[in-house]
Amino acid sequence: MIGLGIETSCDETSIALVKDGKEIISNIVYSQIKEHEKFYGVVPEIASRSHLIKINEVFEKAFANTSLTLNDIDYIAVTTRPGLIGSLMIGAQFAKVLHCITNKPIIDINHLEAHFYANFLDRKVSPTYPFLGLLLSGGNTIIYKVSGLNQLEIIGNTQDDAIGEAFDKAASILKIGYPGGPIIEKYAKKYKKISSNSYFSKILKDSKKDEITFSYSGIKTALLYLVKQNSNIDLYKICYDFQETCFELIIRMLKKAIYKTKINHIEAGGGVLANQRLRELLDNLAQELNIKIYYPTQKILCTDNGAMVATLGYYYFKNGYKTNLEFPVSSTVI
Ligand code: KG4
Repeated sequence: MIGLGIETSCDETSIALVKDGKEIISNIVYSQIKEHEKFYGVVPEIASRSHLIKINEVFEKAFANTSLTLNDIDYIAVTTRPGLIGSLMIGAQFAKVLHCITNKPIIDINHLEAHFYANFLDRKVSPTYPFLGLLLSGGNTIIYKVSGLNQLEIIGNTQDDAIGEAFDKAASILKIGYPGGPIIEKYAKKYKKISSNSYFSKILKDSKKDEITFSYSGIKTALLYLVKQNSNIDLYKICYDFQETCFELIIRMLKKAIYKTKINHIEAGGGVLANQRLRELLDNLAQELNIKIYYPTQKILCTDNGAMVATLGYYYFKNGYKTNLEFPVSSTVI
């Protein structure tokens, strides 16, 4: 079964072809980073205009090196939530046009759920439940208990900023570029650890015993004052300490979630999973607790992409689900 996946929720225009939810035939991603970098963040109006300009080209590229045509696809999966409304509308409208041409069914996708299916695609396996879904991206910092298709229960969430957003804002304060995550990771790697004192010790305090919460606005403000009050800070050390502190909270809360739910199978996804240090910390935790923690091995499957959308669409399609043509788009998960 061949699925076409369309993803335009934020600043990536992506269209993919996936076979049986397990094999990537093509996964074309156009990233708008260059268009947003001078603003140190995504500008919604620019994002939707860029999707409109690029989507045809991305679509053509998705078929370019294949022997497939539109007639060969079995379903069209498209992200409809959550995201920037103007951006989502471009993908949704594109899907409706393809449906009018081919009469193939449309599956509307929550792309937060789709991030976990990037892992099943990456490992070429079918999903097994329940698992804990750790989602770390530019807009979300969530731990879900996932019990099946469309059965996601939030058991931990951020009270303010998302972790990726914190990295982006930190890089903006330090004036080192956009997006912040990969740049902070690069500088953190250059730090030769000589002191165990962190610029951010005791910033991210523990929540109540059973409570699983994240908060990243405090560390961002601490960084802002640190930079304002010190003219000669060590950039490499500040990136290292910032990254370590942000990730320590993730590991601490993930441990709590594992103890609380007694679920030993973790699927992690979202752009922040591209970070090598985070991957190392998750591997260490898996070893320490003797459990399975997965993340996409291919970095292209960490950030938003059409392949994960087509993969989740495959499981809905197999279950007999399809949407009607009046489906809405939404900035939230509805
Ligand atoms: O999943 P994604 O595309 O998120 C949304 O669109 O919400 O991920 C983008 C986020 C950005 O905040 C970016 O700074 C972060 O993922 N990111 C990273 C790394 N690569 C991307 N954060 C930490 N380390 C990285 N290597």
